[in-house]
Amino acid sequence: MNDLLRRGTMRVNERGHLEIGGCDCVLLAKKFGTPLYVMDEELIRANCRRYIAAFKKHYPGSFQVAYAAKAFLVLYMVRLIREEGLWLDVASGGELFTALKAGFPADQILFHGNYKTDEEIVLALRHRVGRIVVDSEEELDRLDQLAGQWGGEARILLRITPGVEAHTHQFNRTGQIDSKFGIPLEEGLALRAIKKALGKNHLLLMGLHCHIGSQVFEKEPFEVAAEVMMGLAAEAKGAFGFELKELNLGGGLGVRYVSEDDPPAVEEFVESLCRAVITNCRRLGLTLPSLLIEPGRSIVGEAGTTLYTVGVVKEVPAVRTYVSVDGGMSDNPRPALYDARYSAVLANRACDAPDCVVTVSGKHCESDTLIRDVRLPRPKPGDLLAVLTTGAYHHSMASNYNRFLRPAVVFVKEGKALVACRRETYDDLLKTEILEPDWKEVADRLASL
Ligand code: LLP
Repeated sequence: MNDLLRRGTMRVNERGHLEIGGCDCVLLAKKFGTPLYVMDEELIRANCRRYIAAFKKHYPGSFQVAYAAKAFLVLYMVRLIREEGLWLDVASGGELFTALKAGFPADQILFHGNYKTDEEIVLALRHRVGRIVVDSEEELDRLDQLAGQWGGEARILLRITPGVEAHTHQFNRTGQIDSKFGIPLEEGLALRAIKKALGKNHLLLMGLHCHIGSQVFEKEPFEVAAEVMMGLAAEAKGAFGFELKELNLGGGLGVRYVSEDDPPAVEEFVESLCRAVITNCRRLGLTLPSLLIEPGRSIVGEAGTTLYTVGVVKEVPAVRTYVSVDGGMSDNPRPALYDARYSAVLANRACDAPDCVVTVSGKHCESDTLIRDVRLPRPKPGDLLAVLTTGAYHHSMASNYNRFLRPAVVFVKEGKALVACRRETYDDLLKTEILEPDWKEVADRLASL
């Protein structure tokens, strides 16, 4: 069996079909149509538990694991995260609204964003979200003012750019000053922001935050970031008596898309983070802060599989074979955006030996390659293609380009499939549109501006 298929509840059943959560993918496709996002609920829960167990084992202080909602968010996912005892990181009013609608406790929500609009901030203040992660000095002023108007005190973290940049295979210690996110360490800017935050009447500075990158395969950059952040905390303690109560080291642990991908295990990753924080605390004479992290991809990435129906197989002699499927860049923009690579199997013939290399394309009016050069048993129209590791940044980044309908999301578990998000309909495409505007209303509105 392909090594990449060893994940969660995935297996190949007696019929030679791919099975996830005890559900035969061929039957799922028949019942719910394709493209279809299939989420392995047990694997998501297991990933959440691995994070928590690893922190319990390796961190003597308090900790929180906040799931990064941007990776994948539907109401059902919010509930699952709640049941597993994680906090939630949201990065927009829409994500916050979804979390609140699903009944997630507001005081366990962290609110991010390099530009939070006043409307978003007020939504967060009204519901008293747990932490607002402030991204700039400008935001400190605006938030303090809005918090004053709303008669409360906002608990905040300051997002710092620690000068450590990490991408999949390598990292850079001096990178990332050139970023739209966070407050730079350079020229005392971070210290100045801490001082400013401490002086605000309606803000309670709980600690510091950083996020160094995503799909990271090395532990070292996180350790360096922890060291830099604790160094800053020690400086701020010396300068203005600042006590670091919380340190949030962001998300970023990578997952396996192709067989060469070899990220550290969750346990190994958490252990190295904890060790770095403990060691630096000792070195600098600081008390152990509450440690937070915000994993997204490593919770849901490998738990997701997209099923497509193969429609057209076109052989360009001596060049390549194009296999067109019934989805594409609207359900997965990642190859177009990031040159992302994927693995796939034929879900209806999972035991057949791969005997050719093909290119999988979508059906958009673009050259929307989903996978360049993947080894498969020679595909035929009607075959069911399962693309692996599509749980993170797929559904959440899907679009209606070419007026495609966004696929359904089913959670599978113990032979049952739950539709957490139904497939869109053509009517859904039109529901926000107005064919004949009410010109009087438009005129009235303009007049009232
Ligand atoms: N915290 C912050 C502040 C973040 O910006 C992110 C991701 C995370 C946590 C979660 O990181 P993760 O554990 O998922 O790596 N669309 C891109 C990924 C963008 C990640 C943005 N920030 C992709 O499809 O690869």
